Amino acid sequence: MIEVDEVKKSVDRIHGYLADEEGELLYNLAQNCTGKGVIVEIGSWKGRSTIWLAKGSKGGSRVKVYAIDPHTGSSEHRKSADARIWTFEEFKRNIKNAEVDDVVVSIVKTSEETAKDFDKPVELIFIDGAHEYDLVKLDFDLWFPKVIDGGIMAFHDTCGSLGPKLVVKRMVYKSGNFKNARFVASITFAEKVKQNSMKDRFRNSLALFLKESYWFAERMSAQAGLHSPKPLRGVERKVIALTLRLLGWFQNNDQLRRCSSRNAS
Ligand SMILES: C[S@@+](CC[C@H](N)C(=O)[O-])C[C@H]1O[C@@H](n2cnc3c(N)ncnc32)[C@H](O)[C@@H]1O
Repeated sequence: MIEVDEVKKSVDRIHGYLADEEGELLYNLAQNCTGKGVIVEIGSWKGRSTIWLAKGSKGGSRVKVYAIDPHTGSSEHRKSADARIWTFEEFKRNIKNAEVDDVVVSIVKTSEETAKDFDKPVELIFIDGAHEYDLVKLDFDLWFPKVIDGGIMAFHDTCGSLGPKLVVKRMVYKSGNFKNARFVASITFAEKVKQNSMKDRFRNSLALFLKESYWFAERMSAQAGLHSPKPLRGVERKVIALTLRLLGWFQNNDQLRRCSSRNAS
């Protein structure tokens, strides 16, 4: 727990797109890796998620983290930036300052260019590169065959962003090749299997239902009180917070429960 708190502090200053509970999930997933395969990250930006993965790995079997990013940003960054985007120098500095340069292997290429000759088995992959549907689907298609049975695929932004949301719905929650599909905040993750059972498929469908209900409830929670008379606002918030807690409990997910209590305040 102390280590996780320290990682939180060290990534706090780094600009990035990962919430603390998502980082903690990546830390735990990386810590559980045994070394049967490597860890791959698609989309590192300035290193926030890379550091969570690398710290987790160092707390476990010290599995190498391959951080793949051309460092020229995604379409949404390029739209809003005046100048050319180049995040590699800052990424390198952050990785060195966090003292994880001994386990991070940085590859300054796109996922597509890298996948062509990447021949290591993958035990954990975190996909957070381009967010358009076709590009997330391409990342899935390129990397799924390299993930070992029992390995984990995790995807960022699977709630608010349509591309990743649809890819995980079709390729993970409804697939015959995954079990234990779950989510923490916006990350969906699941374990690859040769063929899942009917029970696995039922559990994946339930997880999808909970995910969609959770985000619906959270959106309602954000809006609660805006349109209703003042005395009702507190009651609305409490009902929605309770729903979120129940969803967290059903998913048996501490991080989701913590998310829900944060929403309640
Ligand atoms: C949302 S940011 C990643 C955020 C990062 N994971 C974090 O925790 O802060 C998306 C990154 O994906 C990278 N990217 C875009 N297209 C890519 C591709 N085809 N392959 C690999 N990375 C890509 C961009 O350069 C950008 O750095």
